Amino acid sequence: MPPPHIRVRDHGPLVIEGDIPIFDAEGNQFCAPGPKSTVALCRCGRSVQRPFCDGRHREVGFCSAERAGECN
Ligand code: FES
Repeated sequence: MPPPHIRVRDHGPLVIEGDIPIFDAEGNQFCAPGPKSTVALCRCGRSVQRPFCDGRHREVGFCSAERAGECN
């Protein structure tokens, strides 16, 4: 099993794969919807379930397809 990681989806959320707790600014832990081992975080800003993605990025036509450069 790969270590916990974050995958940036084209035109969509940040997908966290692995059991990583998510806390708000006051240190309270969010209860993730769905299976705990995979969580999608909204990066379009339009989800009504923020910080989680609810699929609304498709309705609003969110466009973002960054590619990683070389490290170092
Ligand atoms: S990225 Fe999916 S609702 Fe914002």
